[in-house]
Amino acid sequence: MSVKISPSVLSADYLTLGEDIKKLEAAGTDMLHLDVMDGIFVPNLSFGVPVIKSIKKHSTVPLDVHLMIDRPHRYIKEFAEVSDILGFHYEAGSDVAETLKQIRELGCKSCLTIKPKTKAEEIFEFLPLCDMVLVMSVEPGFGGQSFMESALPKLEALKAECERQGLNIDLEVDGGINAETAPLAVKAGANVLVAGSFVFCDDMENRIKELKAL
Ligand code: DX5
Ligand code: ZN
Repeated sequence: MSVKISPSVLSADYLTLGEDIKKLEAAGTDMLHLDVMDGIFVPNLSFGVPVIKSIKKHSTVPLDVHLMIDRPHRYIKEFAEVSDILGFHYEAGSDVAETLKQIRELGCKSCLTIKPKTKAEEIFEFLPLCDMVLVMSVEPGFGGQSFMESALPKLEALKAECERQGLNIDLEVDGGINAETAPLAVKAGANVLVAGSFVFCDDMENRIKELKAL
């Protein structure tokens, strides 16, 4: 399975985002990662449906939406209209199985996300309802933090469990991904890499190519 790259636009310059998306697509980006924060589930605010709707108009790759919001089931319908892959946190207070099912019923791929302190084993029972699992390798809320190696055994455990259950699920990792940490995550089983601050710089095309070459 080849590695897919999902740049997080949290680190973007929003006034040039349209042009930057074109550059990222030309460099071979596989999807775009969109971080939605509500100031309650995480101590930060970002953007919501209107911004994602605009990004959708200007991009050709799938949109990978990472909801960091409290009780996300309240907003699944609205976000499903503008997402291709829609993910929410296991810890966010919604009925996990029902929310995953709802996302699929609305025509999106479902993604369940876990914070650094959550054990991989806690979500094993939900894997048959997931198209992707996202393992956070930083505390969610901010770009530019350092990669937590505790994500690695979790990726390994999830990969082994997916194989045991006969499931072909994408394993995504998010937080502190760069040229040094990406190979560790891939070795542990990740096949989708989110990268924010590493990609959004003056050399974004080469940064994508560097990650894709792994
Ligand atoms: C953090 C977000 C990440 C963030 C990653 O809560 O989920 O997607 O943008 O940024 P970097 O790659 O800079 O750690
Ligand atoms: Zn994210």
